[in-house]
Amino acid sequence: MMHNTLPEASEPMTAEKTAITLTDCGKTFADGTRALQPIDLAIAGGETVVLLGPSGCGKTTLLRIVAGLETPDAGGRVLFNGEDVTVRPIERREVGMVFQSYALFPNMSVRQNVAYGLKVRRVPREELTRRVDDALEMMQIAELAERRIGQLSGGQRQRVALARAIAVRPRILLLDEPLTALDALLRDRLRVEIDSLLRGLGITAVYVTHDQAEAMALGDRVVVMSAGQIEQIGPPRDIYHAPATDFVADFIGTVNRVPAAALAGWGDEVDGAVLFRPEDAEIVSGEGAHLRGRVASSLFLGDRTRLVLESDGLLPVVVDTRRRETIRIGEEIGIRLKPGHLIPLPSAGREGQTC
Ligand SMILES: Nc1ncnc2c1ncn2[C@@H]1O[C@H](COP(=O)(O)OP(=O)(O)O)[C@@H](O)[C@H]1O
Ligand SMILES: [Mg+2]
Repeated sequence: MMHNTLPEASEPMTAEKTAITLTDCGKTFADGTRALQPIDLAIAGGETVVLLGPSGCGKTTLLRIVAGLETPDAGGRVLFNGEDVTVRPIERREVGMVFQSYALFPNMSVRQNVAYGLKVRRVPREELTRRVDDALEMMQIAELAERRIGQLSGGQRQRVALARAIAVRPRILLLDEPLTALDALLRDRLRVEIDSLLRGLGITAVYVTHDQAEAMALGDRVVVMSAGQIEQIGPPRDIYHAPATDFVADFIGTVNRVPAAALAGWGDEVDGAVLFRPEDAEIVSGEGAHLRGRVASSLFLGDRTRLVLESDGLLPVVVDTRRRETIRIGEEIGIRLKPGHLIPLPSAGREGQTC
């Protein structure tokens, strides 16, 4: 039986922020699939952490271990504020969840969906009504309260799912690719709203996505995963500018690798390869180019144009430019790298990282 262990109405929504500690959390499924290698992860109270990685790398499994929907392999432990909750079932963990698939009750109204968790917890009627109204207001769907789920767009459904998750005032909010099913414009708008929602609530949140732009925009810290392992944990800027492994460098954004020997004037000073982002090379006319090449393709992206350069004996190099004049395919141009903007060479990377 479930207990109403949630804060009273008079208490602030986040009386105490919940830190999450995972130690040695691996997961091997019954069929032998090793979804997670033993993982350690510490999430501070009130922090938003994004789990980022390609499909199948173990993000959902890790989230479900935090939720209490999966138990880690023997030896793994899950702590909330230092308290061991490893064997505590989901309904007693006080977590709110939002999925890509909404998971709403199709035959209930919006209001009934949002009220559901409160009813289960036997929250008194008046209090329940107030909390539902608050949650609907927060997600800007008050005017949809009496609609059935079937009458809503995808974006509206996800707002309902978010309202339902926050109405129970969880200690922790867990979101599994909540925007993946939406079109690009809606995705951007709702992402901004989720960001301000999480900041407004000050709640501890774990957000799963395979979309690096989403991860960069939302995460206080990003956990990059590959093949059931953590590749790197850090603030978005660190992940982007100083990837710890080759996997991270390649997964986040676009990165060029050019042998130092191919760069005019660099061969003697730098060994091996030089790594840089498309936006950290500038096009130079005449003198001063580190590298010259032919424009193989040109893609106008509105705020910038993405060029692919080909040089003999090198892999194609991707360069972004904000110049307005058209650069023609076949044209020969030079680029200059900004030395302060090179990506430090990742450490060799871990063995056998494919995903
Ligand atoms: N219940 C299950 N039984 C067996 N294998 C599973 C199960 N759930 C997930 N997996 C496998 O575990 C790996 C990680 O899955 P998942 O955590 O869903 O990855 P992600 O969310 O990053 O896409 C995948 O290889 C997946 O096929
Ligand atoms: Mg998943």
